Amino acid sequence: MESDRTIRTIGILTSGGDAPGMNGVIRAVTRTAINYGLRVMGIRRGYHGLWRGDMEELDARSVSDTSRVGGTFLMTARSKTFATPEGVEKAVKMARVFGLDAIITVGGDGTMRGAGDLARQGVPVVHVPATIDNDVGCTDYTVGFDTALNTAIDCVDKLRDTASSHERCSVIEVMGREAGYLAFHVGIATGAEIILIPEQPLDKDKDIIGKILSARNRGKRHYIVVVAEGAAKGEEVAKQIEEDTGTEARATVLGYLQRGGHPTYLDRYRSSMFGILAVKSLLDGRMNRVTVMKKGEIIDIDLFEGLKEIKTITQEDFKQARILSI
Ligand code: F6P
Repeated sequence: MESDRTIRTIGILTSGGDAPGMNGVIRAVTRTAINYGLRVMGIRRGYHGLWRGDMEELDARSVSDTSRVGGTFLMTARSKTFATPEGVEKAVKMARVFGLDAIITVGGDGTMRGAGDLARQGVPVVHVPATIDNDVGCTDYTVGFDTALNTAIDCVDKLRDTASSHERCSVIEVMGREAGYLAFHVGIATGAEIILIPEQPLDKDKDIIGKILSARNRGKRHYIVVVAEGAAKGEEVAKQIEEDTGTEARATVLGYLQRGGHPTYLDRYRSSMFGILAVKSLLDGRMNRVTVMKKGEIIDIDLFEGLKEIKTITQEDFKQARILSI
């Protein structure tokens, strides 16, 4: 949507699960905005802070030395109040009280839906996708995914050392909510024998137990099974494998470890590019947008069109993982 509305002050918030690289977005937004003569208000604790009017002005120095640090210095929350029409109304009112001409929201799919709610009530927004889950339909990449991947890969590599010494099966439960992107990529990168994701369910006997037994008969002595939290509980999968194959199995839930840590180069670079573009799209009069990565290019698209898009892990993608794991 093109707009002739003049933008003087923008708000920025991070919401939902934190992701490494969120600070890089805040820094890029702040410095780009200041460069073009705009004021930036940092809203604390996501939508929760917005409806409560919890914000302060950011200057170029207040974002110094933040992009190399994980988490979000603006803090984040999952606001129950903002999820109601009354909460959205309160948030819109606060945007007026603080003179916010537009808001840049940073977070996953829930945060993006929240941005849609604000836009429908007349608050111009630009959304920047950031979640370790990489499950936002309209973009190939979400800030934080690469760092979480590398953290998880490092953990699985370590678990493989001990699994191989004990000739065990190591079952690793990976985050991702209802999506299997993190698990799928971790599984491929670590050479997992089995990857369990919600998008491509497996047959327990044939694809899990049968596969471990035939691998054992071919001489394999330890096994890595990566499980997306949206597909199964690691503990239950390990128990089943041990019962049905007689091979000792141990489960490890990687949990919140995956959300922390210094952002990788990719997350530092992409968070910066997303942040710059978010401000530029507002300055160019393109409101209610979402910054996305498509086929390697970082562009902005219509927020409401973006909200309709879905993505999945196809059978073809999954087949490649199977080929690699024989
Ligand atoms: O969306 C990011 C994520 O880390 C998911 O992978 C996970 O299921 C969820 O957040 C955990 O949420 P919370 O921080 O509220 O426990």
